[in-house]
Amino acid sequence: YPPEKIRNFSIVAHVDHGKSTLADRLLELAGVIKPGEQHAQILDKLQVERERGITVKAQTAVLKYKDYLLNLIDTPGHVDFSAEVSRSLSVCDGILLLVAANQGIQAQTIANFWMAFESNVTIIPVINKIDLQGANIEKVETQLKNLFEFNPSDCVKISAKTGQNVASLFDVIVKQIPPPNVDRQKPFRALIFDSTFDHFRGAIAYVLVKEGVLKKGQKIKSYHSDKEYEISEVGIMQPNMRQTVSLLAGQVGYVICGMKTAKEASVGETLFDAELGRETVTAFPGFKEVKPTVYSGLFPVDPADYENLKQAIERLSLNDPAVTIQPDSSAALGLGWKVGFLGILHMEVFGARLAQEYDANVILTQPNVEYRAIVKDNETIRKKRFEGQGEIRILDASKFPDTTDIEKFLEPMVKVRLVVPNEMMGIVNGLCTECRGERGEISSIDEDRMLIIWRLPLAEVIIDFFDRLKRLTSGYASFEYESDGYNETDLIKLTLKINEKEISEFSQIIPAAMAKDRSKLLVGRLKREIPQQQFQVDIKACVGASSKVLSSAQIKPMRRDFMQLLKGNIGKGGKERLNKKINHQKVGKERMKMLGNVQIPKEAFLNVLKN
Ligand code: GTP
Repeated sequence: YPPEKIRNFSIVAHVDHGKSTLADRLLELAGVIKPGEQHAQILDKLQVERERGITVKAQTAVLKYKDYLLNLIDTPGHVDFSAEVSRSLSVCDGILLLVAANQGIQAQTIANFWMAFESNVTIIPVINKIDLQGANIEKVETQLKNLFEFNPSDCVKISAKTGQNVASLFDVIVKQIPPPNVDRQKPFRALIFDSTFDHFRGAIAYVLVKEGVLKKGQKIKSYHSDKEYEISEVGIMQPNMRQTVSLLAGQVGYVICGMKTAKEASVGETLFDAELGRETVTAFPGFKEVKPTVYSGLFPVDPADYENLKQAIERLSLNDPAVTIQPDSSAALGLGWKVGFLGILHMEVFGARLAQEYDANVILTQPNVEYRAIVKDNETIRKKRFEGQGEIRILDASKFPDTTDIEKFLEPMVKVRLVVPNEMMGIVNGLCTECRGERGEISSIDEDRMLIIWRLPLAEVIIDFFDRLKRLTSGYASFEYESDGYNETDLIKLTLKINEKEISEFSQIIPAAMAKDRSKLLVGRLKREIPQQQFQVDIKACVGASSKVLSSAQIKPMRRDFMQLLKGNIGKGGKERLNKKINHQKVGKERMKMLGNVQIPKEAFLNVLKN
């Protein structure tokens, strides 16, 4: 297939609008899979992905149509991975923007449109699910016209389920999407757009060959990680891997070359002929090191599981280049890790995979974000206390600087796109205001729904924003978010005291505006978790050097008759009760931790800190 007979395209859609179903139908029509044969990946969906509305991968596959070779390229569709989606779009020359006729344009449709638009790829609007009773094709046409200026006559109307009109897409793809702009005469150069990890073969990189040819035995280099590899296998996806002799420029396929982790096969990485000097090679644009935005502590519920868990985490992270993992420990929770994620959904998916695939029993502590502090422009302070740095990053309460040294604190912000029914505008705006948001543009999608843009502190979004949004709108709102710089903020260190003793495990750095709610939450949880003692227990949440109390609670001492019992004043039947109590306490003792003079069960720590 010469390049002009190749088309590289992708299907993008809001969750549940039919991406996997359409991919299956196209594969069937092209004779790649038999009718009714579902691809395993579709069945692999995790519960949390379903609940959270995360689009899982459909598949990457080679389809033959007439004398054309069509590469259906799958993009990672995770909401937290917008940056990844836009990078993998760079290997496509066109997309099918799928919109379900019963639901119309949703938040992810809008995000996907703009990403494709900015990447300069051809966008083909496709209205799906036209077989449904609730389908309103005209309405969706109007939405596509209003928002993106598509002509109704250019929208392809299909039912991926029944197959109605799906075959017509092939012609549209061939006619409207340009062939890849590639050169087979030049030395080899390719772009990685996705990767998976195989425990036997290492990382498998999915690539678009832009220049030259790739063959088994060939030596190649990676641009950003600057490593050399020898190709042990190349092939195409059908949609299962099928080994081929070579991959020519314009082709999409897989490469196995002894990469040990998925990180080496990062999305956006450039591979090139090892005979070329790195200086002479131009890397493809768009490579960015993935940086986590949300951090959480991860601990085994039972410390004895530490070693097993360590292995599970290592294996899982081989597969997931976006997580960052550092050892962490806490006097109360034992050994664990500080794990960085791209977002909360990513965090939940990681936790769910540990539980489902590795049977691991873990707790993830309340997530937090990384703040920045700009140190005062004072040479002496910088040298003495901040190793000469003018800016520091704060993740842990233990690293909180003396505020008199700091000129200002900054917190990460996100841009949230919300699609909401008109009558729910009020409650949604109320929620965003409560979360310290700044309102952006509002536009109408049709007579029933609005697109609202808000800029919110990430720290607010990671608590329970999306759950509250879903609850408040009975699931009728859809959303999408992306990083959007930093805002100046007022940060404080919140400390918890039990009978005046500070418990460092519970200390947190948060924006002052969130301190009151967080204090109440933590004090309330502690009050519930700490058992009665022989004396009164005072719990306080304090802030700042002056230890101003933001919230407090007391736990009353045990009742007198039980104290008598302990002192040996045993009445009728008392001995039995006492023995029972003592035995019970013996068992419990090992699980208890003394904080000053107060006994706290280990579970209390988990229950207070967990997400
Ligand atoms: P995620 O992978 O979860 O993002 O969803 P998706 O976009 O891949 O959608 P999927 O193909 O899983 O379809 C979602 C649901 O819609 C499934 O129950 C499909 O059977 C159904 N569906 C897809 N296309 C059609 C269609 O044309 N008509 C009808 N009636 N149902 C459809």
